[in-house]
Amino acid sequence: MSTLVATALFALSAFSQFVPPPTDLISTKGYLDLSVRYKQVPNGICETDPDVKSYSGYVDVAEDQHIFWWFFEARNQDPATAPLTTWINGGPGSSSMIGLFQELGPCGVDSEGNVYNNPYSWSNASNMLFIDQPTQVGFSYSIPVPGYLDESESYIITLPNNTCPDYAEELSCGTYSYPNETLTANSTQAAAPNFWKTLQGFMGAFPQYSRNTYNFATESYGGHYGPVFNEYIETQNAKNISGAHKISLDAVLIGNGWFDPLIQYQAYYNFTVFPGNTYNYSPYNASVQAEVYNNLYGPGNCVDQTKDCYRTGQNAVCSAADNFCANLVEAIYDNVLTRDEYDFRELTPDPFPYSFYVDYLNTPTVQAAIGAYQNFSEYANAVGTNFGTTGDDDRESGTVEDVRKLLEQNVTVSLYYGDADYNCNWLGGEVVSNEVGQPGFATAGYVDILTSDDIVHGQVKQAGAFSFVRIYESGHEVPFYQPLVSLEFFERVIAGLDVATGKTNTSCDYKTEGPSKSTYVEGNSTIQFDVLNSTATYNTSTNAPNPPAALRKRSMPRHSGKLFKPLKY
Ligand SMILES: *[C@@H]1O[C@H](CO)[C@@H](O)[C@H](O)[C@H]1NC(C)=O
Ligand SMILES: *[C@@H]1O[C@H](CO)[C@@H](O)[C@H](O)[C@H]1NC(C)=O
Ligand SMILES: *[C@@H]1O[C@H](CO)[C@@H](O)[C@H](O)[C@H]1NC(C)=O
Ligand SMILES: *[C@@H]1O[C@H](CO)[C@@H](O)[C@H](O)[C@H]1NC(C)=O
Ligand SMILES: *[C@@H]1O[C@H](CO)[C@@H](O)[C@H](O)[C@H]1NC(C)=O
Ligand SMILES: *[C@@H]1O[C@H](CO)[C@@H](O)[C@H](O)[C@H]1NC(C)=O
Ligand SMILES: *[C@@H]1O[C@H](CO)[C@@H](O)[C@H](O)[C@H]1NC(C)=O
Ligand SMILES: *[C@@H]1O[C@H](CO)[C@@H](O)[C@H](O)[C@H]1NC(C)=O
Ligand SMILES: *[C@@H]1O[C@H](CO)[C@@H](O)[C@H](O)[C@H]1NC(C)=O
Ligand SMILES: *[C@@H]1O[C@H](CO)[C@@H](O)[C@H](O)[C@H]1NC(C)=O
Ligand SMILES: *[C@@H]1O[C@H](CO)[C@@H](O)[C@H](O)[C@H]1NC(C)=O
Ligand SMILES: *[C@@H]1O[C@H](CO)[C@@H](O)[C@H](O)[C@H]1NC(C)=O
Repeated sequence: MSTLVATALFALSAFSQFVPPPTDLISTKGYLDLSVRYKQVPNGICETDPDVKSYSGYVDVAEDQHIFWWFFEARNQDPATAPLTTWINGGPGSSSMIGLFQELGPCGVDSEGNVYNNPYSWSNASNMLFIDQPTQVGFSYSIPVPGYLDESESYIITLPNNTCPDYAEELSCGTYSYPNETLTANSTQAAAPNFWKTLQGFMGAFPQYSRNTYNFATESYGGHYGPVFNEYIETQNAKNISGAHKISLDAVLIGNGWFDPLIQYQAYYNFTVFPGNTYNYSPYNASVQAEVYNNLYGPGNCVDQTKDCYRTGQNAVCSAADNFCANLVEAIYDNVLTRDEYDFRELTPDPFPYSFYVDYLNTPTVQAAIGAYQNFSEYANAVGTNFGTTGDDDRESGTVEDVRKLLEQNVTVSLYYGDADYNCNWLGGEVVSNEVGQPGFATAGYVDILTSDDIVHGQVKQAGAFSFVRIYESGHEVPFYQPLVSLEFFERVIAGLDVATGKTNTSCDYKTEGPSKSTYVEGNSTIQFDVLNSTATYNTSTNAPNPPAALRKRSMPRHSGKLFKPLKY
């Protein structure tokens, strides 16, 4: 985008704080007669290649529930024969624009607000469909109303009309979903039907992009969404529902997934204390170590409460257990270290992955170009709060069994983990992978992943169509930190080929042979001890910020005692 356009955008936005209803959407019907409204997105809004088409719009899945999607044709091939892959982020409540703009979509946005091409876009290998779900997340809206954000920027306060009053934080006025907690979902299971309907809507409206196989990729809380939503798709297929499309599910990929809280809450201790991470960084002193241990294993604490949640299944028990574990086990890290949960190597505020796209999506030009009907937020607090009422985050929700069922139905499943992420760390993920019980997996071993750049970016343990992948020098959003291996990994998994080489068909008795543990140690050379400039850039060759990046020596750790709940986005 030129400076001139940027200036014009800025001038325009001063006049129009609220989002007008889109008037140029094309209305059509998807499968199950679902209403679909969409438009072709002008070239340059994200995809910069004029020969590659992009569409965005809504599937109207229920009264006052409008699910936003943004589609990109596959590059370098005929999109009519390419596979289709859906990407969703986690949260619960996080927008999938995170994945689109920060990780694996066709573009990113730089500190000047300019769109740049991502040569490692997963659309190089597949048609890509990004979906904001459930209702109220990202651009998905319930009832659009004028409003502004409270001081904590978490809650929406509604306004009577489209005038931004003096008392409102001027910059936070906008059009938001009426924060009615009934017009979204309150659990993973409850969110599945509208996700399936969104696919029915899109696939019916765009059969030309849905001819070949279908894949699903997700991250973080997607460790809940992925198994449950896809098993729901398989059960819907089996019902032979009249008018519904049978979705031919091929592969499910889950990055730094949150599956089994009983295991994964314990993994916070393993990653920071014992046996520790592979960056030779032991961040806690003896008293903090003892505090984390006690908050986990002391009588009536996190492990006991989570077991009570599993045993009783009661909302109040699960919800209380989750608050206890998140605040008193997980978040000790944030309070003591002021480090980024999603990338252990950086302090907070961490400028990586870049967040400049959020302002870009809140410009009238972009909103009009994609037909959006509300302001953009990375995170919908109403959705997180609503999931909190059922304690969904502290439930295992049948995720491990659903992974097993998908494998039994010949769906390929890969769990991949950036090993510098604390939030959903790979030590917990590895234990989950063993719980799945895939035949041959217990005796398989780790091997290096070979990629076209001849650099070893990680290891894989694989048996048949099931793989567990550890990526080195990578935070939570793996494709941002390790774009090359991420794209080649994605290409192999959706082609039914082995992750290690991309040369072997995994439908045969494929199994990796190697040590039972992945032992590579990065050491601490990429750990940062300074807060970084907000415009610092990340270097995927050195796995560190480009110099000069340091802004100031770390501030004193904060001991505010403030309780907050970290997201799993
Ligand atoms: C909402 O979007 C409008 C443009 O349509 C923009 O002017 C306004 O600043 C946005 N509000 C926020 C809080 O981003
Ligand atoms: C992805 O596709 C683009 C556009 O065709 C191309 O320029 C780029 O080199 C491709 N990326 C890779 C890693 O091959
Ligand atoms: C809009 O609402 C404000 C209160 O926020 C009120 O003072 C103002 O008169 C209203 N304007 C119109 C045109 O109704
Ligand atoms: C929330 O939405 C539901 C369903 O549309 C409606 O019945 C209820 O009255 C709404 N609640 C509020 C507070 O508006
Ligand atoms: C669905 O159709 C398949 C074959 O088309 C049949 O085998 C199966 O029993 C049907 N399932 C139901 C629930 O009707
Ligand atoms: C944590 O470490 C203990 C002791 O090494 C091990 O038994 C357990 O399986 C580990 N759990 C996780 C989630 O890493
Ligand atoms: C251990 O670390 C915590 C948090 O940084 C600090 O408050 C405490 O004083 C330290 N304890 C000792 C014994 O150094
Ligand atoms: C969750 O939502 C369902 C409707 O989908 C509702 O029946 C249930 O009461 C809600 N649970 C809680 C704890 O609010
Ligand atoms: C999965 O594949 C195996 C081997 O190709 C086949 O025997 C089996 O019937 C398939 N199962 C399903 C549910 O399609
Ligand atoms: C792998 O083998 C199966 C069964 O022989 C076959 O259907 C499939 O096309 C092969 N896949 C690839 C990528 O060669
Ligand atoms: C980094 O690792 C080296 C040796 O591996 C060690 O001597 C040094 O103390 C470590 N630095 C920090 C800050 O942990
Ligand atoms: C941050 O980096 C930018 C671009 O390199 C530079 O202009 C700016 O002065 C830096 N800010 C600080 C506070 O160092």
